[in-house]
Parts: sequence; C-alpha cells; structure tokens
Amino acid sequence: MIKINSSEYDILRAFIKQKCGINLGANKSYLIETRLSDLVLEYGFSNYLDFYKKAEKDISLIERIIDAMTTNETFWFRDTAVWQVISDRIVPYIVEKAKNKRKARVWFAACSSGQEVYSFLMMLNEHLEKTRQKNLMDVFDFTATDISPSVLFQAKAGSYSGIAMERGLPLFFKNKYFTEKDKIWHFDKNLKGRVTFKKFNLQDSYSWLGSLDLVFLRNVLIYFSPETKKEIIEKTSERMESGTPLILGSTESIRDFSDRFDIVSQNNIIINYKK
Ligand SMILES: C[S@@+](CC[C@H](N)C(=O)[O-])C[C@H]1O[C@@H](n2cnc3c(N)ncnc32)[C@H](O)[C@@H]1O
Repeated sequence: MIKINSSEYDILRAFIKQKCGINLGANKSYLIETRLSDLVLEYGFSNYLDFYKKAEKDISLIERIIDAMTTNETFWFRDTAVWQVISDRIVPYIVEKAKNKRKARVWFAACSSGQEVYSFLMMLNEHLEKTRQKNLMDVFDFTATDISPSVLFQAKAGSYSGIAMERGLPLFFKNKYFTEKDKIWHFDKNLKGRVTFKKFNLQDSYSWLGSLDLVFLRNVLIYFSPETKKEIIEKTSERMESGTPLILGSTESIRDFSDRFDIVSQNNIIINYKK
C-alpha cells in the first residue's frame, strides 16, 4: 500500500470534499490509503501528489475516485422500524396525495445500488393491490440519484447476487418480484421501468427536480460537513411543499441544521415534515 504524507493528505482531502462533499476528518489518512492506493498504482504513479495532478484534469479518473471514496452500503428495507412507519403512514399519505394530483413525485437522493428504491416500489405496489388502486401507479414519478457511477449502473440493472438478496428481503417479496437466472436475481421489469435513474451530486443545483411529494435522503448526510448538510437540507426543502415528508437514516437528524421542518416522532421513528 502506498503511504500518504500529510501535505498530500491535505490536498486530496480538499479535492474529495470539493468533488463529492465527503468530509474526511484530520486523522482519516488511512481511508485514502486503503481506498485509493490500488488506483494510484493502476494509473502508474508512486505517490499521491502526481496522482492528484492527473485527477485534476481527468474526469474519468475523478469518477473512479468518487466510486472508491463513497460508502455504498445498503440493503432491503434497511431499518425495519422505519419501513413499518413508511408502510403504516407514508404510503397511505402519498397514495392519498396521488389521487388528487396528476403527478406524485418521489425522490431517492442517494440510492446506491437500488435496494431502497425497489423496497419502496414493492411496498407501494402491495398497498395499491390490496386497496384495488393499481391504476394509481401511473400517477407516480420515481427519480433515483447517486453520485457514484458504478452503483447507479447496478441500480439501473436491478440485478442482484444471492448474497445481496439475503440482506433484509423477505421471501414473499423475493418470490413475487424477482426472477432468477444463473444465480443472479432480476427485479420486476415493469416496476423497474418506472424509475428514472440519474447521476447527481447533492452539491449541485436542484432546480431540475421540480416539486417533490416525498424524499428519501437516507444515510448520506453523515458523510458531509455541517455547512454542506445545511445547504443540502435547504435546497431539498425548497423543492417540497408544506406537509411533504423527508425520510432520513435512523441515526440522522436535521435538528441542528434546519428549522424548515416539523420533526415528528411516529412509533419512536422520526419523520421530518416540511412546515
Ligand atoms: C451509505 S449509502 C446509502 C444508500 C441508501 N440511501 C441507504 O440508506 O441504504 C450512501 C450513498 O450516498 C452516495 N453519495 C455520497 N456523496 C454523494 C453526493 N455528494 N451526491 C450524491 N450521492 C452521494 C454514495 O455514492 C452512496 O451510494
């Protein structure tokens, strides 16, 4: 593994923050060493300064760095208690809203390889089937974004290994919504086709998102500085009407970053509703 010196660390740390917002602490040089060392070697460099000089002018290398530095951990119905509230409260709310609108827009702001998106689609589809409102699915518009090209590619494909399928997916959903071929499990084509996947950096402008009726912003704010968190929450809130739910990861809170939301505890789970 190539060792990084302190001035190289300061340069790369600032570069990574500028490109994807990830805020590495002062003592996280080992993260760069473990995640970028192979890439430095692959590009034929023996130190991080020369590697950085190349990356500054090479978009495809920047994407490789983003891929390597982002943490893409995700799984089906992550945080069961949160998904119980989504099932009991959020799905009925968004379906009611969909009835009165021509479009109900749901945004998955850091979708990783897609498990969160497809968990929601399966849950929504079950609700619409049970309540005999399947036609309402056409009213929904699902947009899923992530900064990391490789996970976005997996999300779009909707294809998962046996190991990924074992992580949180109830058998009922596996049997109903997936087909297996050569040990790879493929998500239902019809539902998958309803989602627009797009590469998007949460630090960029949100104007293209239009007006949102439900936002998943889960397990991503933790990687950002307080200023970046505040900026992201403000830009997101500007796309939300009053009453729109914002769902964060179960350990995340926006209490210190925004007063634009009512922070409501439902079954001990916090859901943020735009004021
Ligand atoms: C830990 S995963 C969370 C996935 C999913 N939301 C969940 O809760 O299971 C965090 C994701 O945020 C993405 N990410 C990190 N920085 C980002 C940025 N600046 N803009 C958009 N996505 C970003 C990463 O690529 C990664 O896929």
